[in-house]
Amino acid sequence: MPTSSKKKAAAQTFRAQQKSPHIRSSGTTPSAPRGMHDILPPDQKYWEYVLEIAMQVMRGWDFQRLDTPMIEEAGLFIRSVGAESDIVTKELFELKSRGGSPAYVLRAEGTAPIVRAFIEHGLRSWPKPIKLCYAGPFFRYDRPQAGRYRQFHQFGMEVFGSAAPVTDAQLMYVQHVLLRQLGLEEYVFLLNTLGDQADRTAYIRALKEHYRRHVRKLCRDCKARLKTNPLRVLDCKEEKCQQVAYTAPRLLDTVSDEAQAHFTQVRTLLDELKVPYEIAPGLVRGLDYYVRTVWEVVPRRPGDPPTGSQTSLGAGGRYDHLVKALGGKDVPAAGGAFGIERLIDAIRREGIDLQLTDTPSVFVAQLGAQAKVGALRVMRLLQEAQIRFAESIDRDGIQPQLKLAERLNVAWVVVVGQKEVIDGTVILRNAESGMQEVVRQEDLVTELRRRLNVPQG
Ligand code: HAM
Repeated sequence: MPTSSKKKAAAQTFRAQQKSPHIRSSGTTPSAPRGMHDILPPDQKYWEYVLEIAMQVMRGWDFQRLDTPMIEEAGLFIRSVGAESDIVTKELFELKSRGGSPAYVLRAEGTAPIVRAFIEHGLRSWPKPIKLCYAGPFFRYDRPQAGRYRQFHQFGMEVFGSAAPVTDAQLMYVQHVLLRQLGLEEYVFLLNTLGDQADRTAYIRALKEHYRRHVRKLCRDCKARLKTNPLRVLDCKEEKCQQVAYTAPRLLDTVSDEAQAHFTQVRTLLDELKVPYEIAPGLVRGLDYYVRTVWEVVPRRPGDPPTGSQTSLGAGGRYDHLVKALGGKDVPAAGGAFGIERLIDAIRREGIDLQLTDTPSVFVAQLGAQAKVGALRVMRLLQEAQIRFAESIDRDGIQPQLKLAERLNVAWVVVVGQKEVIDGTVILRNAESGMQEVVRQEDLVTELRRRLNVPQG
């Protein structure tokens, strides 16, 4: 940085510190925050691919989009995800608020904000079931590692007003359809039931009793969890804790008859719909709002043994009491969400051909001041016709432009010169053979579509 810019930057930092004493500049070259990523141009095609199919499938199944703010009151997550959950105790990004209360946090997941909006805007009066969907960034102050970030992206869907097992099955079916449409094949739904709240209280008692008998074999975290969040000891990844979990009583065997019947119906429907699933008696999920059906989608073929470091592509479950717990009326609900980064990893791993060529097949070159305006008009024509093009409007000589076109490996170059602007034509040049012909501007899109083998619009 030149000295004058350095001085200016230092002065700016100083002024900012005067205003907000907690703001400090490290002085080093800034980089993206730990666990957060820039999405560079070559990766964008994956994001476009996933989001386009996600929105197409969710909208196609009549889910209506609802966007919520990036920040929420901390209390929303404490009352929904749970005061003792990992998300609330360790992973919330707290914001320094200027006015004190309420305390705001970056949103850590999508369900609680959607429920908040559902109550706030009285959506309960809409015709049922009320089906909502969303997509965007979420934030958890987690330890960054492969597939686990501090800023990650989810898209999800939530259904309000139905307590029926068919709704749980429908949600998983839509997720299955979506994964297939993305081209994925290596995944399985892990399924469990948490029963109702009374079942859970009785189960936690039995679980604590079992674990107390083996407490010396547990890791330090699990010893603490046993007091604060006993269900979570079941999905600890430590080998010694997994051994204790293996002999623990199963939630599945202790839930009420109603919850059992609900679960059986969900399973029957999934069998009929051919959704690949396995029962996972130890799956408890880390969010307190769930009752009855819960699931995770993991990236492995059905029947293959689980791998230690398995991370889920997506997850979901029923949360019949959350609307009421957050101050609304008693409205049953269920939903599910996918992590976009993890879907992209799976797409790469499975070597799926995106069939979305992100590289332009046309280059627009120009020669002369007047021709730059003409070239910009040609670019507009191409953009409106959805023909991807590259260009270098600031360059003057034709040779550097042709060289660039060659480097970009385009099939056709559209050359606009002074004469062509006056005549209302362009020169269409085959990049490989160098053969040129004159085409009238109004015919350009048709001619290019024919040569590029894309359907005429
Ligand atoms: P979740 O299991 O916490 O559930 O997150 C859902 C998905 O988000 C995960 O399966 C994973 O793909 C992705 N994900 C979560 N944390 C991270 C992270 N740190 N880095 C990268 N990806 C991550 C929920 O959030 C629930 N709201 C799902 C739901 C919707 N339940 C009912 N409706």
